[in-house]
Amino acid sequence: MSLNGPDTMARVEEIARAKINLALHVTGRRADGYHLLDSLVTFAEDGDELRFEVAETDSLTLGGAFAQSLGTVPPDDNLVIKARDRLRALVGASGQKTTPVAIRLEKTLPVAAGIGGGSADAAATLRGLLRLWQCDVPPASLQTLALALGADVPMCLMSKPLRAEGIGETLAPVALPSYPMVLVNPLQPVSTPEIFQNLERRDNPPIGPLPESPDANAWLQSFAGLRNDLQPPAEALVPEIAETCGLLRESLALFSGMSGSGATCFGLYESERAAMRAALALSAYRPQWYVLLTHTVAAGDGDVP
Ligand code: C5P
Repeated sequence: MSLNGPDTMARVEEIARAKINLALHVTGRRADGYHLLDSLVTFAEDGDELRFEVAETDSLTLGGAFAQSLGTVPPDDNLVIKARDRLRALVGASGQKTTPVAIRLEKTLPVAAGIGGGSADAAATLRGLLRLWQCDVPPASLQTLALALGADVPMCLMSKPLRAEGIGETLAPVALPSYPMVLVNPLQPVSTPEIFQNLERRDNPPIGPLPESPDANAWLQSFAGLRNDLQPPAEALVPEIAETCGLLRESLALFSGMSGSGATCFGLYESERAAMRAALALSAYRPQWYVLLTHTVAAGDGDVP
């Protein structure tokens, strides 16, 4: 996160870090149809970039490699605009002042890709506007607002390694260390509701106990029991996911899998060099796919509002 210029509160920047579900166990279903999850989540150092500036009127402009995919989203459904408007209403209700804001979103991550996307953008908007407007919101109200925007928005507000339960509202930081990581997406958008609908079992066992320290060997052992229950229905819809995960396994990843409802797959590596070799080989093999060489954030590195 960085601040620009001498007048820090006239302009604020945020990174909407890509969210990676290292494991996603579907453990049940609520009466309203939402699924209960047990998920080990981390975040990439990279993500969409957002800039917020005090302005005469509200605006949202888009740039970046994946801006076009968002151009078709009606303004009322855009999570950045929803986050702005709902936060403004919450802040205004407690008598605090807000300003019109010009928002610039550089969409560098693929959309409908299982890595947060709109949720990370919404969370970054909440963090950015709280700083721009210099206002105080009770943490519980902020969490409620975030969850109403989407089940993944509260975890994206934290943007650090965590275990998520419930539908994503029960969050506990975990001591997961940072890893060199490669993200690969065959650029096939996936509809999250469709994947949840196609799930065969909704009562799978939860994740076992996780290490309490950042000990690399202990984490490596715990990865063995992890899985993503959304992967079989996602692979049925997008066969390239199975191919992508196979390629990551062959690339000597310490641990690999699919994030969220797909189609992005991740590989964690022991060294920078191993991750770079994997990224280069994957880009050469499938030049039209999205391949990102990055790191996961270390525990304690996140942006906590
Ligand atoms: O909360 P969000 O809008 O991101 O979720 C999109 C859709 O994914 C929901 O409408 C629901 O169909 C499905 N979903 C679910 N259980 C979750 C999260 C999402 O069934 N825990």
